[in-house]
Amino acid sequence: MSGHGTPIPMSSHASKGLKGQADVPGDKSISHRSLILGAMCVGETTITGLLEGEDVLDTAKAMRAMGADITRDEDGTWHVYGVGVGGFAEPDQVIDCGNSGTGVRLIMGAMATSPIAATFTGDASLNKRPMARVTDPLALFGAQTVGRSGGRLPMTVIGAQDPIPVRYEVPVPSAQVKSAVLLAGLNAPGQTIVTEREATRDHSERMLAGFGAEISTEVTNECRIITLTGRPELKPQSIAVPRDPSSAAFPVCAALITEGSDVLVPNIGLNPTRAGLFTTLREMGADLTYENEREEGGEPVADLRARFSPDMKGIEVPPDRAASMIDEYPVLSVVAAFAEGQTMMRGVKELRVKESDRIDAMATGLRACGVTVEEGEDWWSVEGRGIGGVQGGATCASHLDHRIAMSFMVLGLATTKPVTVDDGSPIATSFPIFEDLMGSLGADIRRD
Ligand code: S3P
Repeated sequence: MSGHGTPIPMSSHASKGLKGQADVPGDKSISHRSLILGAMCVGETTITGLLEGEDVLDTAKAMRAMGADITRDEDGTWHVYGVGVGGFAEPDQVIDCGNSGTGVRLIMGAMATSPIAATFTGDASLNKRPMARVTDPLALFGAQTVGRSGGRLPMTVIGAQDPIPVRYEVPVPSAQVKSAVLLAGLNAPGQTIVTEREATRDHSERMLAGFGAEISTEVTNECRIITLTGRPELKPQSIAVPRDPSSAAFPVCAALITEGSDVLVPNIGLNPTRAGLFTTLREMGADLTYENEREEGGEPVADLRARFSPDMKGIEVPPDRAASMIDEYPVLSVVAAFAEGQTMMRGVKELRVKESDRIDAMATGLRACGVTVEEGEDWWSVEGRGIGGVQGGATCASHLDHRIAMSFMVLGLATTKPVTVDDGSPIATSFPIFEDLMGSLGADIRRD
């Protein structure tokens, strides 16, 4: 299965002594939001450190199709000349968001309260993913949607002519849904109030405040209540996108399971709504330290140092940590295979509706490599076999999912026999320099 042109089979071979510095790309979540919010203010927003992966480039194309002027300097600085809140133009072509759930859901939210129509599509993975989670709340603003059965793309959104503000409790822990509602609320007169039971990544809230919107978050024992006042005049910003902790996870985990490794991953955002993996790894006994801890742009940042960790133990990952590491469970399951004892992961059913069913994809590949994995709808567990205990030797399906492909490439660095993925092309959606960067550390990853 491929939606990214020709499939790229890749294999990963036993490696030792990963060493050096891993400069991972910009944060995907913040990159999408920078382009979308930049497009929603009048004037010039400049962005440095933007992730130039396929997902984000598709969002840039979509914002251009809706009237924003977006350019890139040779040095990688991006300029967004926005149209203002409510100023989107109707696109004259179908908007193709490729593989990106974040892109399509945030853009749908952003345009749902403008008097335009837009038709969205994606690749084979995105066109299977549930959209009712965003179209339900967008209907409350007055938007209409017509999609395929089951609320799937391709789908047309007809924005509300006279949007009304909304009070909405997000029924699943999802920053994409929360953000879609907040972005829609920008062009609704009055207060839009979003409640979430579990804290999800809060980049939209922080960035909306940075762009000058009136937004506040009340935290109670049970929930977070976010109140946004509509129709602000957003002010263009100069944004330095921090490096992506979800991408940092791959060189970090590779170093932990590969004998003799010592890798530095500088400038990683440790926003508590994103850093759950690193907390979990440290609880497992990983030699993972935070150096040069500091604050940058209002976010906690550190340089991560990961060293080979032969004595990691399986743990029970607290379910209330799931949202803060939702994209990192695939690579955590790889580390768990090299720990001693069982790692239990509960409260994770959202993993089943990502770019692939990530529990199924990882469980199938890990089992083929000799690891015992058990699963239920909302949980899975991995029986650790210790360093040197995982056989490998299988070809694993990436299911058009970048994080599945990269996780299996990390696995193969420490298995006895090589691990292959049928298609590594989706890696370009979020981490286009993955092969070069891992190679520069000494990882033996090849295109077959
Ligand atoms: C994201 C939110 C998460 C995450 C995705 C990025 C975002 O999805 O998996 O990679 O930028 O808001 P959900 O909101 O569906 O959990």
